[in-house]
Amino acid sequence: MSMLKLQQIMSNEIAKRSFLSRPPEPPATALLGDMMRSIYIGTTKIFKIPFTWSHLNLTNPHIAVVGITGAGKSYFVKTFLIRASYIWNTNAVIIDWAGEYKSWVAQSGGIVVSLGKGDSINIMDVEGIRPIDRTKQIMNSFDILTDISEFPEQKRLTEEALEQSYVNMGFNISEKAPAGKDAPNLKNVIALLQEKLQEGTYQYPAELENAIYRLRQFAREGEDYFARKSTINIAKLASSGLVDIDLSNLSDERFRALAALFILQTLKEIMRSEGWSESKGLKTLVVLDEAWKVASDDKSDAITIVREGRKYQFGLIVASQSPTDINEAIFSNVGTNFILSIKFEKFLNYLQGSMNFSDHIRSEISKFGVGQAAVVMAFQTSLKFPGTFVLERIHGEEPLQVYTLDLSGVLTQSEISANLIQKDYQFEQEELKNKFVEYNFTNDAISTIFKEMDEQKRSIKIADFVNLMRDNGITVPNIVSFLKSLGIDDIIITRILSSTGAENG
Ligand SMILES: Nc1ncnc2c1ncn2[C@@H]1O[C@H](COP(=O)(O)OP(=O)(O)OP(=O)(O)O)[C@@H](O)[C@H]1O
Ligand SMILES: [Mg+2]
Repeated sequence: MSMLKLQQIMSNEIAKRSFLSRPPEPPATALLGDMMRSIYIGTTKIFKIPFTWSHLNLTNPHIAVVGITGAGKSYFVKTFLIRASYIWNTNAVIIDWAGEYKSWVAQSGGIVVSLGKGDSINIMDVEGIRPIDRTKQIMNSFDILTDISEFPEQKRLTEEALEQSYVNMGFNISEKAPAGKDAPNLKNVIALLQEKLQEGTYQYPAELENAIYRLRQFAREGEDYFARKSTINIAKLASSGLVDIDLSNLSDERFRALAALFILQTLKEIMRSEGWSESKGLKTLVVLDEAWKVASDDKSDAITIVREGRKYQFGLIVASQSPTDINEAIFSNVGTNFILSIKFEKFLNYLQGSMNFSDHIRSEISKFGVGQAAVVMAFQTSLKFPGTFVLERIHGEEPLQVYTLDLSGVLTQSEISANLIQKDYQFEQEELKNKFVEYNFTNDAISTIFKEMDEQKRSIKIADFVNLMRDNGITVPNIVSFLKSLGIDDIIITRILSSTGAENG
């Protein structure tokens, strides 16, 4: 039989019981940092407090972002990188699995490297590191990506041949390699193993053959992006502002993963060799967006960077549609989690289990629209408020997209040189879109017109523009009033129309 027991209790005792008094959001003092030293993200859902992020009050600068496709992960990452570059001059290296960032990076004036389409990486490069360590790293990548660990003899043969190739090229394998010295590549390693096979004295020829077969997958003619001289220098890229390493042209997931693992290994070495610094900024952010085994395997350097990055001002941002693809060690160690829309129960269970948020937050997450997020933060001090709250929306920014209408084709040479008539008109994308809407262009017409202008690098000759409008069903009177609204002179409008033959249309 159960008994109900009445107690006398002081009200301050009750207040300590968090289920009654737990505030729904952290206080403004924790959310709103010094604007010069933190990044604005968006406003909180309940109290509409502007939330600014800074690694300074968190356990570390690393971030995990999860959410279904279209939830706004990449949008968030872009916004974050741009603002970090304003505040701390932070460099960024994006390991771009699906090629999602390249056009944005190009537009923002950053560097785009396209592996498998022009650019290659020799995974045996050793500048500044010991060949013996690089050999271990390569074996580690093979361990993650293939089943070689189940074949110890093949593993030993491969490892030996890697080391021997360095020796043959004149390296001392246990000393840091000097700069500028050419490294061997996987084709040299394969050649060594083949020689051994041809000698015919080795006890287990089948093991040798299999070891060769495994390596060949990464060195086939036409797919030898990792067995050729490197065209890129990752150390340099890590301090070159905004950099996108586009992996989408590589023909298979394992190639993408091999590239990602190599890049992370190299960045880890750079991080360690640059050493610790007093500065309070954030030197480099490494972004891993959709990275399959690279974010999930215990042996991946994504985890090393999460464990050690803080003291070197190196931050890792991992984004994924499937939270279960992100290693627990990453979730439990990152200073900030952004959870965007998640629908699957199994993912909600996993996240709630590892981050321990309330059922209320869980239910919010399952109802999120684009750009909404729950934020889970690990503050440095143990504070008496929740580190979890909901953002109304991530307030992002896209780079300005300027469209130019070029009138020079309908002006005379003397008009151009006299400079009395405006020879081009520029519009920001949103502005132009709003004008189209104002003049009742259909959605289909608007997207076709933008697509065509994008193909012409966003600068279009006025006659082509008028033809494009006509092709999309915009009537001549409507075109005329549209052109007038841009401030184009009647005389010039007449000229434009006659140059397209539309004046009789
Ligand atoms: N906070 C936001 N405010 C306004 N628009 C947004 C926001 N977040 C995302 N969007 C828009 O929603 C669309 C999808 O966003 P995004 O590409 O970032 O999704 P994603 O989560 O990266 O998806 P995927 O997993 O398929 O890569 C984009 O057109 C983007 O511009
Ligand atoms: Mg994305």
